[in-house]
Amino acid sequence: MPNHLPDPADLQSWSRYVEDFRRAADSSVDWIAEYLTNIRSLPVLPKMNPGELVDALPAHAPEEGESFEAILADFRSKILPAVTQWNHPGFMAYFGTTGSTPGVLAELLIAAMNTNGLHWKTSPAVAELEQVALGWLREWLGLPPEFFGIIYDTASTSTMHAMICVREFAQPESRVEGYKANLVIYTSGQAHSSVEKGAIAVGFGQKNVRMVPTDAEFRMDARALRAMIEADLRAGLRPAAIVATIGTTSSTSVDPVAECAALAEEFGMWLHVDCAYAGPCALLPECAAHFKGIERAHSVVTNPHKWLMTPMDCSTFYTRRPEILRQALSLVPEYLRASEDPRAHHLMDYGVPLGHRFRGLKLWFILRYFGRQGIMQMLRRHIALAQQFAEWVDADPRFERVAPVPFSVVCFRLKGSDERNEALLEKVNESGSVFLSHTALNSRYVIRIAIGNIATGLEDVQRAWKLVQQAAEELQKK
Ligand SMILES: Cc1ncc(COP(=O)(O)O)c(C=O)c1O
Repeated sequence: MPNHLPDPADLQSWSRYVEDFRRAADSSVDWIAEYLTNIRSLPVLPKMNPGELVDALPAHAPEEGESFEAILADFRSKILPAVTQWNHPGFMAYFGTTGSTPGVLAELLIAAMNTNGLHWKTSPAVAELEQVALGWLREWLGLPPEFFGIIYDTASTSTMHAMICVREFAQPESRVEGYKANLVIYTSGQAHSSVEKGAIAVGFGQKNVRMVPTDAEFRMDARALRAMIEADLRAGLRPAAIVATIGTTSSTSVDPVAECAALAEEFGMWLHVDCAYAGPCALLPECAAHFKGIERAHSVVTNPHKWLMTPMDCSTFYTRRPEILRQALSLVPEYLRASEDPRAHHLMDYGVPLGHRFRGLKLWFILRYFGRQGIMQMLRRHIALAQQFAEWVDADPRFERVAPVPFSVVCFRLKGSDERNEALLEKVNESGSVFLSHTALNSRYVIRIAIGNIATGLEDVQRAWKLVQQAAEELQKK
């Protein structure tokens, strides 16, 4: 067995180590190109039972190092068949995503440099390129220049940081004294569970998260919101924040952000806008109405790893009150003391994590490689495909569409019981060529098709519809 550990005193052993990488990397890049070319030949969902991969792999790590060839062979034969192919054009579950080639390339470079932007000096490029890429994206989102941006791993983490801002905004003494329990958060029943989770993590307590009712199109009812705020004020509680969503998880409905902003301003509350999925559509003039009022938010989250072709993970968090975030979380021991130059940006001051990955590099690669026009074209293609699918559903009397289609997700169901819809979805997903998921709307089981992969075209969507129709026919025969 080879021992790959290079000897720092032996230049030849270092070059063997690097050359070994070069050979394996060359063949891996070829493999990636093949994989992306022929990805439709793979099943979107792995056909396996829980525990199968664990059983197929050794229980103990190797004593001696192994060759890249051996490791890559096992990757292809054992790991790949257990992968759910999120980069597959038939992946239409949850939200369609893309790990685009500029993103893949940037991830390779990020890992090679392994740089860590805790504070400015630990990697000026991490601090400054993140600022540049987020500045470009901020303009596209229609947010004013005073919005400060930072990249976290996921929208759940971003929204948890919004909750930290809420606590600091409403009770600045809580950083030292601990939280005093009377703050209330308002969001809709259609909001992502990360809002409630963030409130749990920060200590507000689940009972202090109000689920505002929604209208027939699953949008937060602003009149009900006002009534709930006023009732809580009368009860001696402190309404602290509204979380509005543009593109909710189940149906992609759009809350009335401008009305939420007006209420937040009237009652001195924080407004957080979650557009984790739909954010990139702010680029499209035809979607402008959905984003009305976003510029009045205190914080906004959008996830380039959802609909902006960025490989997991990359969530961008913007706030126009960065001093609140800093007040809440900056804590600098001597060993982290850093430059006081006002242009030296210290990312550790704006989040729970200390270490900061160079995610800005992949976002910068992607924004440059596709450009505004390329991104708009992809978004429009996906929205048009969703509209097409919605038309097919509407024209087939066996089905009903359950929600409007403002973006690229269609919610529909076979008329009849939840069980029949569950069976239909199982049949469709068994095909291996597409993967759709489900949700519940108005307490009924609903199937979702979510279009968002760079390679998804009309044929893929037609295939999905055909599979849905075939499954419906088979169920009808039974
Ligand atoms: C609207 C919305 N917000 C937040 C999230 C959570 O995203 P993440 O997985 O990045 O935490 C999702 C996930 O789908 C979402 O749809």
